[in-house]
Amino acid sequence: MSKNNSAPVNAKNNGVPRHIAIIMDGNGRWATKRFMPRFAGHAKGVKTINKVVNACIDRGVEYLTLFAFSSENWRRPPDEVSLLMQLFRKVLIGEIKQMGERNIRLKVVGDLSKFDKDLQTMVHNAESETAANTGLTLTICANYGGRWDIVNACNKLVASGVKQEDITEEQLSANLAMAYAPDPDMLIRTGGEARVSNFLLWQLAYSEYYFTDTFWPDFDGKALDEAIESFQKRERRFGKTSEQIRAQ
Ligand code: IPE
Ligand code: IPE
Ligand code: MG
Repeated sequence: MSKNNSAPVNAKNNGVPRHIAIIMDGNGRWATKRFMPRFAGHAKGVKTINKVVNACIDRGVEYLTLFAFSSENWRRPPDEVSLLMQLFRKVLIGEIKQMGERNIRLKVVGDLSKFDKDLQTMVHNAESETAANTGLTLTICANYGGRWDIVNACNKLVASGVKQEDITEEQLSANLAMAYAPDPDMLIRTGGEARVSNFLLWQLAYSEYYFTDTFWPDFDGKALDEAIESFQKRERRFGKTSEQIRAQ
């Protein structure tokens, strides 16, 4: 078993998950329901990110990973893609100071080579400016796909000259984009769909899934608490029996 798959729930912190991953879905439908352009939903969604980041810090979550733009989202109308890129820029510029104040370490994972050069530079600067922060590790997945991540890890292994017989789950995990984090304890998806949409395919192998109909712009600290409550009622067995888990 890979070391990451056995990442324990944060026992020191009342069973609050150490690592929460979120598929922030439903921005477009939130806006359409209000006869607003889809972009208004994305803009409101950014405000929700702020709220949820603060709520995670207050509750002692160590890693928060947000799916912001998938490898497949390039298929959207060019106007929407370019508005999303603009929003990403705005967030990087606007939030960086606050990240320092809130002791947040920012990571951006995904195939950044497809982004404009200036955006790539902004991402690298934001990451290095926050690299020494010791609070919440906030990961934004941008142009990210779980399949891309696994193929990328395989390519890195091949390039490192590793022998076929030495390829293990640990080695592959260590070459994934989020090798610095334990696997998510909980996956939350807002917006009513019950699918993974090519998010962290490898890393979600033993995560607890929580789906809610709430659109991302309406998600908040209270909604997060409901998700955490549901998580705390579950028994994570990792292949063992209930009796074994209770005897631990
Ligand atoms: C999620 O909201 C944000 C991104 C994928 C960028 P959507 O834009 O997918 O919203 P819906 O699913 O169309 O409502
Ligand atoms: C998943 O949402 C990607 C993000 C939230 C960034 P989508 O809205 O793109 O997913 P599908 O297409 O409905 O599966
Ligand atoms: Mg969607």
